[in-house]
Amino acid sequence: MSVSRFGVSLEKDLLEKLDQLVIDHHFPNRSQAIRFLISKNLVEDKWQGDEEVAGALVLIYDHHKRDLQKQMTTIQHDYHCLILSSQHIHLNHDLCLETITLKGTSDKLSKLADKLKAIKGIYHGELVMTAVPV
Ligand code: NI
Repeated sequence: MSVSRFGVSLEKDLLEKLDQLVIDHHFPNRSQAIRFLISKNLVEDKWQGDEEVAGALVLIYDHHKRDLQKQMTTIQHDYHCLILSSQHIHLNHDLCLETITLKGTSDKLSKLADKLKAIKGIYHGELVMTAVPV
């Protein structure tokens, strides 16, 4: 892939923030940081629309919570068309980690993730989506 060069003018404080980003993310240089920001922005733009994306939802919960697993199963069956697979790990005596792999429009994936994250007893829920060429 050919690379084009261009000059960027930035305010001093913004440049300092860019350099901090380079350090925090261990980017080799500013160009790599700018590439990262552009592609992140493009993916997030796709999330706004009804584009088909792939994603993964990670949930951490206490399986002792009353009705939690029943609710999780009911919601996942309601959205079975979006779910490619799920993996359940028993982290310790109380906690479980579930990873649900998803494919569908970003708005539907977000809606499903919001419903699952809202169940009482879910300690942490994080949805990651990426644009896929489908
Ligand atoms: Ni478990």
